[in-house]
Formats: sequence, structure tokens, C-alpha cells
Amino acid sequence: MTFSVDAIRAQFPILSTSVRGKPLVYLDNGATTQKPEVVIDALSEYYRTQNSNVHRGAHYLSDLATAEFEGARQIVADFLNAQREEIIWTRGTTEAINLVAQCYGREQLREGDEVLISALEHHSNIVPWQMACARAGATLNVIPILDDGSLDLDSFHSMLSERTRIVAIVHASNSLGTLNPVADIIAAAKKVGAVTLIDGAQAVSHLPVDVKALDCDFYAFSGHKVFAPTGIGALYGRHALLDAMPPYQGGGEMIEKVTFESSTWNELPYKFEAGTPNIGGAIGLGAALKWLSAQDRPALLAHENNLLAYATERAQDMTGLQLIGTAPNKVSVLSFLLEGGHPNDIGQLLDQQGVAVRTGHHCTMPLMDRLGIPGTVRASFSVYNSRNDVDALFNALEKVKTFL
Ligand code: ALA
Repeated sequence: MTFSVDAIRAQFPILSTSVRGKPLVYLDNGATTQKPEVVIDALSEYYRTQNSNVHRGAHYLSDLATAEFEGARQIVADFLNAQREEIIWTRGTTEAINLVAQCYGREQLREGDEVLISALEHHSNIVPWQMACARAGATLNVIPILDDGSLDLDSFHSMLSERTRIVAIVHASNSLGTLNPVADIIAAAKKVGAVTLIDGAQAVSHLPVDVKALDCDFYAFSGHKVFAPTGIGALYGRHALLDAMPPYQGGGEMIEKVTFESSTWNELPYKFEAGTPNIGGAIGLGAALKWLSAQDRPALLAHENNLLAYATERAQDMTGLQLIGTAPNKVSVLSFLLEGGHPNDIGQLLDQQGVAVRTGHHCTMPLMDRLGIPGTVRASFSVYNSRNDVDALFNALEKVKTFL
């Protein structure tokens, strides 16, 4: 299979549109990715010809929607190399982590226990653990980073102990792009008997993920960061752990039997899925993962790595630009500061030239505090970005500099 960025771009209708009279240069893929035609079509097809509630078995359309919805779950399971019943639909990574923090963390943590996260975490992998630890009287410890934005692994190893009950770590940092050695982290955590959760929100669109090979206990990701609609995501959980956990929310679907006195729970995965789910979203996520899996993934990754290398080179050549996050292993994220300009102002000046980036703390305030900065300008690349996009960013930055 030969890789052609033009052929990939042609499948994403929004990429040929203009903003503010300029061709769109979309470099905010860390916030959300654009959607290929096949995903838009799958959503449209569902609402045009299949729309119905699932698992009710009452009529033809309901059976059809159920088959599509459960088929999408199988696609997610195959994508992560998991079993179908180990895949729980959630609204996204945030809900998946909250589910584990509540149904595993709050239930299992005791006074004196420790939860280990890292200085790179998004608020969604900090706050749920703060809440769970506060409830249990447990302690939340933070693995520090080195100045280049990589994890301080020596500190990590010295912080692990038999008191460590949960290690919850981001696979790839949304702010800096740092790619963490999660397989080694999981192996070390297992040695002290800790349960592991990996926040895969920024990883799955870039790298193949195999939860069995990683041997993690939980893995969370969001659909919209991997070419699927917003409002849908998935949690992988090890079967035995999910089985032992109490439900997340109460309502329809998650029950086996209800009386006014008490209720019993449905089997996995339905025990964690109260209420009518995001059926269209799940089908859209299935279509997105099917699309991605049909691509030459090593070629996509090589393309992204080339883009990052090229962008990094251009950044290093630009006077007044300071790269933030230069770890040796990164996904295609370029965070930086420009001398004399606040990140938000730079973002607005780029936007006027049709270049979409994200600015600010990127929901990682403690990381920004550690780095001693208010925020960054972040260009985050995806498979459909080209060298032209990188050139457009740096041409626009040259213009921005004339305003500073
Ligand atoms: N967490 C997303 C980002 O980094 C929204 O932009």
C-alpha cells in the first residue's frame, strides 16, 4: 500500500474548506480530529435507515440497530485486542477514568494507600483520583518530569511500593506530546501489585495499541480524537476486575432484576451502561476504527514522525521561538512559546491567517506550573497534515512576529 497524504486528505471534506477567506490549515488535532467521509456517511446512514433503540428486540429496526451497535463494540475490541465484554461505552476518556476512579478507586482504596499519577496528566486523570483519594484517606503522589518533558523514571521506580494501589498514567501527553514507556511502567506497577490505568486519548490515533501485550488493567480513549464523533469513547477493563466492580450508574439496561427492595446487575459489559447509549456515536466510532485499521498504519506513523521532525527543525531555526517539550519519544505535537507574545494572542493572529492551533494550559495546569509558564501554543498534527501545513504555520508565525 503506498501512502499519499493527498489521497488521505481527499477523504476529509472539511480540509478543503476555507476559514476567514483562507484555506483551512487544521493543526488542532489534539483537541479533536476531523472526520472522514465514511464516518459522516455511517452516521447519516444510521439516522436515515437504522435509527432505533438497542437491546429491546421489539422489531426489525431495533434488531438492526443492535447488530450495528454491538458490531461496533466488536470493532473496538479487535482494535485494542480485547474481548467484546471488556469494552464499556462511555462518553469519552474523562467518563472512562471517572468510572474507574469511582467503581474501582473509591471501592478499593483505604487510608494509607497511594495512587500514582504523573506531572504530565490532563485534569481528567488528576481530579477523579483526587476525589477518590479524599474519600478514602489515600494519598495521591505525582511522578516528576525532567526538563525536556519526559518522565523521571528513576523517581517513578523509587516511588513505587507495596502501598501503591493504582498507577494511572497518560500514554501520550496532550500538551507536550511526550510518549511514555507505558509497557515498562505497567510491568513495574504489577511487581508491587498495583492496578494500572492508561489514558490513551492522545495515543490511539497515532499508534497501534494492544492491551493484552501492554498487560494494563484499564485503557481509556475518546472517539473524537480518533476520527469518530464526539460524545462516544470506550473503556477497556480486565474482565475479572470489571466483574468484581459495582455498577457506575443505575438505570435501564444495567440491571438483571429490579424490585422495590433491591436490584441485581446485568452481565458485562451492560452492567456499566445505564440508559440509552449513544448508538449513532458508537456506530460512527466503529466506522472510524475500521477506516483507520484499513490504512497502512506504519506508513501513517512514519508520515507523522516526519512532519514532527520537519516542524521541529523549522522551529529550531526560528529566532525567538522556544520549544516546550523535547522528549526523545513524542507523538506529533509541537508546543512552543514565541518571545514577546502571549500564547492566546499568537493563537488569534494565527487564526486570522486560517491556521487553527490550541493555546493555553491545555487542561494541564499543574504541568504548566511545573514548567513555570502560563501556557503554550500547540500545533498537533494528524495523518492528513502535510508539509504544506507546516510551512503555512511557520509563514504565519513569521507574520505574527511582525505584530509583536
Ligand atoms: N484534551 C484535549 C486537548 O488537549 C481537549 O486539546
